[in-house]
Amino acid sequence: MFDLLENMRRTDFTENLSSKDDGKKVVVMGWVHRRRDMGNLIFIDLRDVSGIIQIVFNPENGTQLHVKAHKLRNEFVIAVKGKVARRPSDMINPDLKTGEIEISANELKIFNDSQQLPVQINENVLADEDLRLKYRYLDLRRPILKKNILLRHEIILAMRNFLAKRNFYEIETPLLMRSTPEGARDYLVPSRIHQGKFFALPQSPQIYKQLLMISGFDRYFQIAHCFRDEDLRADRQPEFTQLDLEMSFANQEEIFEIMEQMFKEIFQKTLNIELKIPFPRFEYSKVMRKYGTDKPDLRFGLEIKDLSEIMRNSNFKIFSSVIKNGGCVRAINAKGCGDFSRKDVNKMEEIAKHLGGKGLARMRFVDGKFEGTIEKFFSENVKNKIREIFEVENNDLILFVADKEKMVCKILAEIRNYLARKLNLIDKSKFNFLWVTDFPLFEWNEGENFWQTAHHMFTMPKDEHIKYLDEPKNYGKIIGQLYDLVCNGVELSSGSIRCHRMDIQKKIFRVIGITGEELERRFGFFLKAFNYGAPPHGGIAPGIDRIVMLMSGTDSIRDVIAFPKSLKAVDLMSESPSEVSEKQLKELGIKIVKE
Ligand code: AMO
Ligand code: AMP
Repeated sequence: MFDLLENMRRTDFTENLSSKDDGKKVVVMGWVHRRRDMGNLIFIDLRDVSGIIQIVFNPENGTQLHVKAHKLRNEFVIAVKGKVARRPSDMINPDLKTGEIEISANELKIFNDSQQLPVQINENVLADEDLRLKYRYLDLRRPILKKNILLRHEIILAMRNFLAKRNFYEIETPLLMRSTPEGARDYLVPSRIHQGKFFALPQSPQIYKQLLMISGFDRYFQIAHCFRDEDLRADRQPEFTQLDLEMSFANQEEIFEIMEQMFKEIFQKTLNIELKIPFPRFEYSKVMRKYGTDKPDLRFGLEIKDLSEIMRNSNFKIFSSVIKNGGCVRAINAKGCGDFSRKDVNKMEEIAKHLGGKGLARMRFVDGKFEGTIEKFFSENVKNKIREIFEVENNDLILFVADKEKMVCKILAEIRNYLARKLNLIDKSKFNFLWVTDFPLFEWNEGENFWQTAHHMFTMPKDEHIKYLDEPKNYGKIIGQLYDLVCNGVELSSGSIRCHRMDIQKKIFRVIGITGEELERRFGFFLKAFNYGAPPHGGIAPGIDRIVMLMSGTDSIRDVIAFPKSLKAVDLMSESPSEVSEKQLKELGIKIVKE
């Protein structure tokens, strides 16, 4: 049953064939994706890496061939020699790229058979994700997943080509290293030779890329694997990939330009989409005020407006007392939602409460006036101002949140996204990029009472804020030369202009409480390098998985990684992490104590 590859050589990938090849003799190879055995005619959809083509076995082409073709079942691996033929016009399949043609088979080789698959791959009903991850090599046969993984290849290739043209050098950095502080937990690797000591897998190559700038490589990039032991989400994996890059003698402007041109080229080369550059820029404080989040989806409006000033003396005590206590009142105009049912509105209130808020006040505008239980608290003047600020029209619904600023932002950002989905405001064909700049360098950790870096501890403060590093009361005012690139509500990249002067870097460490022996132990080797002529430099790291996720239109990061971890951070296929032998543990000097 199992044929050898004797004098059969593939001539074409299926999707390269078209009606132009009518009459061409071809050899194609792949898997039986689907079969329809009509007794007389046998139709096979043959699947290879490029796509699918229909093969027809006609008894007129030989009895032996036909008997063999009867044996074919799904996922058998075969080669077919035959002739390309146009299909009769009523048999054209517009859903297939090769739908205008088929191959009339003259010869069939069966390389291998297949058992019934534990997960179906040619049906629309998907098996449970855990089962698909267990049989990932089969799940990857699904054309849609294959397409994502091949798109990933195209994107990475486009990145490499683009950067190489601009004098970036691809340099690998170690995976076994001392832990770098990106803020998540490290994956640790025990050392056998030095028992009791550990390497950490890199959370990012941050320190190495800065050292490469000090070494004079000027422009570096790497398709870098990063490892972070953190709670997973739809757009987070414990092991993920960054396009990590760094540039010497470049300011923020130059880094933005390079990135904008790179994204333009990638989109053009892989999706044939023309992105408009430069991307709009928003300062962090402004973007938070307008959208409640530092990664807003700009495919729709629903902007948040601050009403604190006009509500300061309002008779609605909930609002005025929040403002007196240092909070704020902000609102969204849910356009055309004045006729939302009580259930719809309650659902949004639930969202607000679930996030820790106290409620979601609302007023609708019907027949030229506001309505709702809180309307009576507001003077005509206040109501007119609200109408003006939100350009209120008939059947609009204003949703208010009063709380500490952080909570107001959190709730209204979520309500904004919820409304956009509910009202179908999101145009999935759009890619709306933006830069977010001017993040604060430090944030106060309320629970534990200390200053921590908000993003990145190797970042240069804005020139005019460097002096605040000596003024504890002004730490919160220091803006760092930090930036994020956001698209469609997803944080795609983060970066900064680095601190290339050791005196300033040391002050940053002092603010976050890393001094003396700890500083020396954790960062001594790194700081020392700055004594020997460190050039000004900066960089950025676009998350490749998230980019491919957006560009392929999927909502799950696992759909764009060949072998991802499950939501519980395990590899269900190889069943890792796994226990190891006593011998291995002994060599490492490790004893497992189970709690
Ligand atoms: P940051 O930690 O912001 O910056 O990471 C940069 C980008 O990497 C992606 N990313 C992730 N993708 C999938 N799963 C994860 N768990 C995950 N974590 C991060 C995001 C993010 O924007 N060294 C700095 C970069 C620099 O300053 O040059 C860094 O790692 O898309
Ligand atoms: P109550 O007087 O508690 O019934 O609240 C009246 C309305 O105000 C309800 O719709 C609540 O959801 C809303 N509300 C209560 N507290 C807040 C708040 N902090 N921000 C916004 N709305 C609130």
